[in-house]
Amino acid sequence: MTIDVSRRRFVAGAAAAGVMSAGVGSAMERVDGDYSPSQQTTNLLNLLGIRYPIIQAPTGGVVGSELTAAVANSGALGALPLSWSSPAQAAKSIESVREKTSAPFFVNFVLTFEPAALRSALDSDAKIVQFSWGMPDQKMTDAIRSKDGVLGIQVTSKESAETALAIGADYLVCQGIEAGGHVHASKPLARALEEVVAIAGDVPVVASGGIATGEKMRECVRRGAAGVVMGSRFVASRESAAHDDYKRALVSAHSGDTVMTTCMNKGWDNATHRILRNSTFRMWESVGCPAPGKRPGEKDIVSRFGAEQQSGVERYSINSPGSYYTGDIEAMAAYAGMGVDSISDVPGAGQIVARVWREFLQAE
Ligand SMILES: Cc1cc2nc3c(=O)[nH]c(=O)nc-3n(C[C@H](O)[C@H](O)[C@H](O)COP(=O)(O)O)c2cc1C
Repeated sequence: MTIDVSRRRFVAGAAAAGVMSAGVGSAMERVDGDYSPSQQTTNLLNLLGIRYPIIQAPTGGVVGSELTAAVANSGALGALPLSWSSPAQAAKSIESVREKTSAPFFVNFVLTFEPAALRSALDSDAKIVQFSWGMPDQKMTDAIRSKDGVLGIQVTSKESAETALAIGADYLVCQGIEAGGHVHASKPLARALEEVVAIAGDVPVVASGGIATGEKMRECVRRGAAGVVMGSRFVASRESAAHDDYKRALVSAHSGDTVMTTCMNKGWDNATHRILRNSTFRMWESVGCPAPGKRPGEKDIVSRFGAEQQSGVERYSINSPGSYYTGDIEAMAAYAGMGVDSISDVPGAGQIVARVWREFLQAE
C-alpha cells in the first residue's frame, strides 16, 4: 500500500500554498514566554501553519463557519466536518469560513460514509483533509496530493497507525476511548498514544479524547504528543452551533455521567459512541438494552428541524442537538467526552484556546 510520495514535499507544498502561518495576530505571543516546542510540535505547527498545537475536533452537526473561523483566528486549527454535506453544501460552507478567516482549517470525512463532498472541498481549495473511521483509498489520496494538500488520519492503535503511515499521512490523530462522539478507539488514550508515538518517527501525532485543559495537554505532550485535539470543549463555546440545552448539559455534567454505548444508532449502525446518559438511554437501559426493533419508543419523533420544522428526528437517531432543533432536546444524543469534568462555562472559542495554552505553559 506504499504510495511513492515524500512527506517533505507536502510540507513544502503546504507552505507554498499558503497553509503556513496565515498571520494570525500576535496577541498570544505575550503568553508564549520561554516556551520551546519539541521537534514534533514544531513539525506540526509548520505543517499546518498554526501558532498553537491545538486542534478543534470535527464535531458533526454542531459546527458552523462561526466556530471554525473563531478557532482558526485564535491561532489554533479550525475544523469543518463535511461527512454529511452534499458537494454544493461543502463548497458553501468552505466559502462561508473563508469570509471570516484567512487562517488554516481542515475539512473532515468519516469514512464509514462515502465522502461525497471530497472533490468539491478540494476544488474549493480546502488545504487540509482529515479522515476518521477508516483509511482513504488511493483515489482520495491522489486527489489530495494533486492539490498539494495536507493529509491527516485518525488512528487508534499501532496497527492502524502503521497503515496510515504507509499511506503517507502527514499527521496522525490518536483517539482514545475517553473521546466524546463516535469512538473508534478501543484503548485509553495514554496506551494508544504510547503505541502510536513509538512508530510515528517524525510524523506528528496529536492526542484526542477527554482533553479540555492545559494540564491534560501537558500530560499528552509529555507522552510524546505534538499537540492536542478538543471536541466537547469547543462544543461548549459561544460560537458553537450546539443547542443551548446541550451546552448547559456539558457544563453541568461529570465524566461519570458519560457512557460508551451503541444506543443511538439510527443513521450509523454498530458504531460505539460516548454520550451523556439521558432519558432515551435510561429508558433503553431499564429494559435490558434490547436490539433495534425491540427498543422502547423507537418510532417517537423527539425533535424537529428544517423548513417549518417539517423534518422529524426519531428517538435513537445519531443527530447531534444543534441550535436549529426544537422539541425534546434532552432525549437526543448529547455526545460528550470524559473531559466534561473540566467544562464549567461557555466562553468564546478564542478564550478557550488562550486559556488552555496558558494552563499548558504554567503546567510545565
Ligand atoms: C458532538 C460531536 C460530534 C462529532 N462528530 C465527529 C465527526 O463528524 N467526525 C469525526 O471524525 N469525529 C467526530 N467526533 C469525535 C471527535 O473527532 C473527537 O474524537 C472527540 O471529540 C474527542 O474527544 P473530546 O470530545 O473529549 O474532546 C465528534 C465528537 C462530538 C463530541
